[in-house]
Amino acid sequence: MPQIAKSAATRRERVGNAAWTAGGIILTLIKLPLWLLYFIPQQLRQHPKWSYRQAVTNELMRAFLYHSSVLQMRTSLSLEPGVEKELFVRMPPQDPRFYSGVLTDGAVQPCVIGGIWFPTVYQPGSHDERNTVLYFHGGAFVIGDGRLAVSGFAAATLAKSFDAKVLSFSYRLSSNPNCQFPAALQDAVTAYAYLLDQGVDARRIILAGDSAGCNLAITLLRYIADNNGTLLPHPVAAVLCSPWVDVFLALDPGSQQRHEKSPADYVPSNLQSWGARTYVPSHLPASDKYISPNRQPFRTKAALWICLGGLEILRDEGISFAEMMRAEGNRVEVYIEPYANHAILGVGNITGFDKEAEKAVKRAGEWVLECRS
Ligand SMILES: *[C@@H]1O[C@H](CO)[C@@H](O)[C@H](O)[C@H]1NC(C)=O
Ligand SMILES: *[C@@H]1O[C@H](CO)[C@@H](O)[C@H](O)[C@H]1NC(C)=O
Repeated sequence: MPQIAKSAATRRERVGNAAWTAGGIILTLIKLPLWLLYFIPQQLRQHPKWSYRQAVTNELMRAFLYHSSVLQMRTSLSLEPGVEKELFVRMPPQDPRFYSGVLTDGAVQPCVIGGIWFPTVYQPGSHDERNTVLYFHGGAFVIGDGRLAVSGFAAATLAKSFDAKVLSFSYRLSSNPNCQFPAALQDAVTAYAYLLDQGVDARRIILAGDSAGCNLAITLLRYIADNNGTLLPHPVAAVLCSPWVDVFLALDPGSQQRHEKSPADYVPSNLQSWGARTYVPSHLPASDKYISPNRQPFRTKAALWICLGGLEILRDEGISFAEMMRAEGNRVEVYIEPYANHAILGVGNITGFDKEAEKAVKRAGEWVLECRS
């Protein structure tokens, strides 16, 4: 009986989803010509400095993300090489001791994850003197992956500005069953420990991320710090683009207003709340320091470079996080791209902020060099 009830519900859900998708596509198709006309005059755009392309793409992105969040579309992660061929690597769980404390969970266990090297694979034992960047893609913990189709722009931009090999990895997404916290952080530890196991010197590792990926990069730094750097060594720096540090706030219905008041930010509130609802496990509050990093500062040896879009919802959150971390005695730099929207490192080539992303990361590369000397 429960079986039948379940399949009926699933069928109803599927029909509902198909109807929603069709409705969403039709609605977007109706709106598209209106946007195409509406944004022709410069002063009607979300910001008068925006190009036509930036204005239209912002609306398309919002519509796509809004409908994806209503449907709660699942992204399945492949462990096959695919089009990236030899650039693809499978990373098995590393030393069990690395997954201690907050990473210990009866139901969620470390697993094999996939990653893409860019532009070429690191050769173990090659004593490569260049930097290595570990890239954490964004997507509110529920969408996206580290593959080149999604993260290729970030990988290429980082590789160029840091004269680095980039490892862009795919962590488990909380849109899938049993992939709530600490699944993604376990995967971050796996990828970081994998680099060390390959012989990469931690003093040449830079973490880089977008949005929810920054949250993970920050919590990885916290995990390293909470273990006094004895379990895993500190990387040299973290480049954080539009960090999502307050997951707790996304669960507050009042935070929806932030989204409605920000026409120049394409992130819909239902994407953030979907991410927050599924990421937070039952045994931790959303305000836990490992879920919402802005709830408690910590000391890290890594220098933090924080890039924010002047017109994005997360700008103020990012600034206060930076101030809090600086007050704790950390080395922190804030870079604001005045007219940019969210996560230009990850999706700048889609949203039309590719030049701004390249400029920002170039500056980050110079800053990390200054920090080293
Ligand atoms: C952005 O870059 C990615 C990765 O290189 C690529 O797959 C995608 O087609 C690019 N998008 C645009 C609009 O240029
Ligand atoms: C880290 O150092 C602190 C202070 O010395 C100590 O209380 C804590 O137990 C240490 N933690 C680990 C995991 O070594």
